[in-house]
Amino acid sequence: MRVIAVANQKGGVGKTATVLNLGAALAEMGERVVLIDLDPQANLTAISAADEAELTTHDLLLSADVDLREIVQPTPIANLLVAPSEYALAAAEAQLADADADRAQFRLKDKLGTLAEGIIVLIDTPPSLGFLTINALTGADEVLIPVQCAYLAMKGLQQLLRTIEGVRQHANSELDILGLLLTMYDARTAHAEEVKRRLQEHFGDRVFGTIVPRTVAFDYATVAATPLVHFRPDSPGAEAYRALAREVIDRA
Ligand SMILES: Nc1ncnc2c1ncn2[C@@H]1O[C@H](COP(=O)(O)OP(=O)(O)OP(=O)(O)O)[C@@H](O)[C@H]1O
Ligand SMILES: [Mg+2]
Repeated sequence: MRVIAVANQKGGVGKTATVLNLGAALAEMGERVVLIDLDPQANLTAISAADEAELTTHDLLLSADVDLREIVQPTPIANLLVAPSEYALAAAEAQLADADADRAQFRLKDKLGTLAEGIIVLIDTPPSLGFLTINALTGADEVLIPVQCAYLAMKGLQQLLRTIEGVRQHANSELDILGLLLTMYDARTAHAEEVKRRLQEHFGDRVFGTIVPRTVAFDYATVAATPLVHFRPDSPGAEAYRALAREVIDRA
């Protein structure tokens, strides 16, 4: 099993699009993939068959006897399952009993052991560095960081890196940075090249060779509640996520 958290506390940088399309591309390659929605916004959950009565990641984190296998839902895509979220997840931390405080950040990790060997788990996180993102980083083997191709996007990275370092020191010494993924790349702005160059200076080959272009096709796919990889399989955005999937497999 390989557990990859997709995290960046900046909102709207392509976390959910990355989880969904990387997941769909890996599934297409024959990998068995489980997507975990750890965001109360539940954007990822839209592609699953879950309805409101189903158990969610809120139940997973709060109830000791709810198993990850019980909450995963099928999607229209073969080999791709989703553990759905719901808005109530936003209150999960406050709902934990005080007695559990020191295990609070291990809530997700404690539930990951029940999945079968060979599965790839991708975790979608909210735009914050709070309880839910910390749970994702604590349960993960690797973190993938989507970075929007904009100069200011690099500023928040320091804070994210400090958080990752904190999780390494206190809870998960094995946590690796799988890579930084440049998203929403607009070839018309030279600016993006500058962002890429600077990131490579800092992170070297941790920056994925694949760059995801900015294209409205992602919005159309979102409206259709389908990964772009399936909605428009030949589009440049879909091809980018397929190339990313190959890089993710190669880096294992
Ligand atoms: N490469 C792209 N080009 C253009 N639009 C994109 C791209 N990737 C994602 N989008 C769109 O940008 C918006 C934000 O993307 P997404 O929801 O993946 O970001 P996010 O980081 O998960 O946001 P949040 O922090 O709110 O969870 C969505 O409407 C999505 O369809
Ligand atoms: Mg999101």
